[in-house]
Amino acid sequence: MDRIKIIGGNKLNGIIPISGAKNAALPLMIASLLTADILTLENLPRLVDVELLIRILGNHGVDYSVNGRREHQDSNYSRTVHFHARHIVTTKAPYDLVAKMRASFWVIGPLLARIGRAEVSLPGGCAIGTRPVDFILDGLRVLGAEISIEKGYIDAKTHKGLVGGEYTFPKITVGGTHVMLMAASLARGDTVLHNVACEPEVINLARCLNSMGANITGAGTSEIHISGVSSLSGARIKVIPDRIEIGTYAIAVAMVGGDVMLKGSFPRLLDSVLQILRKTGVNIIENAEGIRIQHNGDAIEPYNIETRPFPGFPTDLQAQFMGLMTRANGISRITETIFENRFMHVQEFVRLGAHIALSGQTATIKGVKRLQGAQVMATDLRASVSLVIAGLAAEGETIINRVYHLDRGFERLEEKLSNCGANIKRIHGDNYLVDKSSSTAAIS
Ligand code: EPZ
Repeated sequence: MDRIKIIGGNKLNGIIPISGAKNAALPLMIASLLTADILTLENLPRLVDVELLIRILGNHGVDYSVNGRREHQDSNYSRTVHFHARHIVTTKAPYDLVAKMRASFWVIGPLLARIGRAEVSLPGGCAIGTRPVDFILDGLRVLGAEISIEKGYIDAKTHKGLVGGEYTFPKITVGGTHVMLMAASLARGDTVLHNVACEPEVINLARCLNSMGANITGAGTSEIHISGVSSLSGARIKVIPDRIEIGTYAIAVAMVGGDVMLKGSFPRLLDSVLQILRKTGVNIIENAEGIRIQHNGDAIEPYNIETRPFPGFPTDLQAQFMGLMTRANGISRITETIFENRFMHVQEFVRLGAHIALSGQTATIKGVKRLQGAQVMATDLRASVSLVIAGLAAEGETIINRVYHLDRGFERLEEKLSNCGANIKRIHGDNYLVDKSSSTAAIS
């Protein structure tokens, strides 16, 4: 398995191009199932999760084609991809595929809406929590779906097509909002959804559906109205920039110091995060090119956060922000309110010399002057990148194992960081690795 080696201490200076958002790309790709025409997605990031979903959609019969490089386009980054679900050959989403990429469960909405049937493997839990789908199923029942669970599969069907209804989510769910938007778009009559997610990725999907002929109002607020239509056509839509990537690199500059332009980023995607970073002492300049992050590398002011649905502090930046607080000059508290088990990075930070105590869903961090490089283990996508950030600031060498998590959600991470001066490289390894430069043998 690959690992990443970092020699800490270098500041970051230069430009980082921000990629299309993974969490916008996935629902947009799934929306291609709603039409027999071509759905074109621009700025689609090159990520393992995107490639996996292409395979999963392919299993349903969705063709795809990729544009070649255009003039003035950097061929290394995001692409324009065409998805064509002319015929759906199966309504079954098998366990071995869904288990690899949880969001693929969301195909249940479009399959039900377009075909009237969906047999989708229950996604199961993951490292950060049990991740149930009960609210999604309740919402689909309101639209007339008959749902049974057999041998780990959800069997959802509707004989006369979905019918509009009114549903209030007991808890804000991003995936639940995506699924109901797609299902209700082709339901007969009107649907009103309450207590929905307001994430920018929801707005990106609603705009895509409306450009396909849907009739959705209220996306970005807590109440959405959908007037169902009989069919949807093809469209072309751009994937929004990745706000989690923007926040991650902003925190990296705050951690080691430097001056970096995050190119193609919009501040409104992560206002709450930028405001908090300013309060910790980071200088942030917003202009037409993007968001410029400056910090002199001195200690950061401590700041307490609680993760919240958008526009609150995103849970997907919690681990990265904790990394930053490990070097703050004082005590900070971080409370995770979205997922029940999203502190697995804590023990890894402690291996790097951080002082963190856990009590229930709150971590108390006492900042230290310097972290010390060590071997650490990545456990989930966002925890992985928080270890990279810590490694950039730690004294000496940090080796991060299981970096396949990183490739799921960060496009060309090592390249973007090393182009700004970080001493970071990927060590392609089998099961047994002798990395001469660090004169140690490591077994993955
Ligand atoms: C999306 O996951 C994101 N994934 C997650 O990012 C993100 O952390 C999460 O939203 C919250 O912002 C994608 O967009 C692909 P939820 P999702 O449904 O939709 C509970 C990453 O690193 N819940 O908003 O699966 C659930 O257990 C990933 O990119 C139910 O109880 O999350 C959680 O506690 C990690 N029943 C809370 O709601 C349900 O039916 C929010 O989950 C659905 C959800």
